[in-house]
Amino acid sequence: PAPGWAIEADVAVVGSGVAGLTAALRCAAAGLRTVVVTKARLDDGSTRWAQGGIAAALGEGDTPGQHLDDTLVAGAGLCDEEAVRTLVTEGPGAVRRLIGAGARFDTDPESGAIELTREGGHHRRRIAHAGGDATGAEISRALVDAVRRQGLRTIENALVLDLLTDAEGRTAGITLHVMDEGEHDGVGAVHAPAVVLATGGMGQVYSATTNPAVSTGDGVALALRAGAEVSDLEFVQFHPTVLFLGAGSEGQQPLVSEAVRGEGAHLVDADGVRFMTGQHELAELAPRDIVAKGIMRRMHEQGAEHMYLDARHFGAAMWESRFPTILAACRSHGIDPVTEPVPVAPAAHYASGGIRTDLHGRTTVPGLYACGEVACTGVHGANRLASNSLLEGLVFAERIADDIAAHGPHREGVPAVSGPGPGTIRPLAGPGARAEIQRIMSGYAGVLRSGPSLRKAADALAALHASAAAAGTAVEPGTAAWETTNLLDVARALVAAALEREETRGCHWREDHPDRDDDHWRRHLVVRLSAGEP
Ligand code: SIN
Repeated sequence: PAPGWAIEADVAVVGSGVAGLTAALRCAAAGLRTVVVTKARLDDGSTRWAQGGIAAALGEGDTPGQHLDDTLVAGAGLCDEEAVRTLVTEGPGAVRRLIGAGARFDTDPESGAIELTREGGHHRRRIAHAGGDATGAEISRALVDAVRRQGLRTIENALVLDLLTDAEGRTAGITLHVMDEGEHDGVGAVHAPAVVLATGGMGQVYSATTNPAVSTGDGVALALRAGAEVSDLEFVQFHPTVLFLGAGSEGQQPLVSEAVRGEGAHLVDADGVRFMTGQHELAELAPRDIVAKGIMRRMHEQGAEHMYLDARHFGAAMWESRFPTILAACRSHGIDPVTEPVPVAPAAHYASGGIRTDLHGRTTVPGLYACGEVACTGVHGANRLASNSLLEGLVFAERIADDIAAHGPHREGVPAVSGPGPGTIRPLAGPGARAEIQRIMSGYAGVLRSGPSLRKAADALAALHASAAAAGTAVEPGTAAWETTNLLDVARALVAAALEREETRGCHWREDHPDRDDDHWRRHLVVRLSAGEP
């Protein structure tokens, strides 16, 4: 679509979670004209929903080296060790700077030291938290306050569409669709030689997810259309413990943080039997993929729709002070964790893959950066370690801002825009298609997959794409249609990667290839949309 209006900046940051706002604040502090565009309101992304916390080697006796070891084990042989080393060594400083910027973490009332909890895959107490189980909400509050205090230019209700490039294929800005924001309404453009994509995840590609409604894979879809390298999409992490609200529950589901297990809750089946002991030395605190698999296995063995998380022994006072958000969510659904075990099941949670970047957040398109869940920096490998995601957003956002400040903006004035990259978004998918994509993905490309199920998914998505393309001209352009187009693009790419990877590794669980195969598959898959599409 042709932009009806345009503004200029040195840096356009797309997204307003921990990654986007950290990058934007640091770019602005370096004197760069920075614009933040975000799809809904500034605090509407995934960051606000993060519960357990942020991992960093802050505790006595802990070291970045130990954090590195745990991250590499969880990543199942596919982490980029240099990226992990960067994360864990710069992490503690980045958390302290976040505290300096106004974020208030829970501290020990006597010593004043930051309180640390445990989560799956961590051999130590290493997770800083805020408001008990409202860590993301506090980080979001602190960053949004800082953005407002410092008067950064922001455009809300702005869905990013495509990347603009110049004649040499370098980034020249973005197009976006803005709803009801006064002078910037409808399709417009931000012309900027540096664009930071921090658009978050793609959980909405599945029927049941912990992600908010805005997580529709917009950044990865844009990158696919722009020809940027995207990898590791098959590694979708399913959070083991999401409050079970009944078979067929759709949309965002309430998370029951790993920190509940970190503080001693047990997973039990309907007979009250613990089933993670004996499966892994860390039992309920094994890496997340192992716990999700343990739960699924037991559910299959017993024909059950869910398992239970039992933390009655915490008592009311601990539930109220340590996990107030989860307690309220459970009670609002008629479950009292103080007196009864909580029904839980896995749900889609985190995209470990994304837009491939180097250690400075640079993608394969010059001037285009990616940060946070949308990026694939190499720190997560085949399975992200719990609570490394907020940390990744912080650390790599700082590195991106420093890189832009050091090397760009490399052109004077408005970059010469030659149009969008190889692909351009079209409002392909009509009403009903979104639910259909989610049904296909949850049915055939979810926590358990196989060659036959993935082929069914690929065929069904291809048919949807063909029929949507045929009906394309009749679809009214608007947020719903753009988002559905993005979901369809990322779903097709994800299924193609999952089909290609004929092994089980990390959170990619192929029933027809149940073993890890280091001889053939200790490598990354780069995915592209087929030529000529969409
Ligand atoms: C949780 O609190 O369990 C989520 C932590 C994470 O996804 O890293």
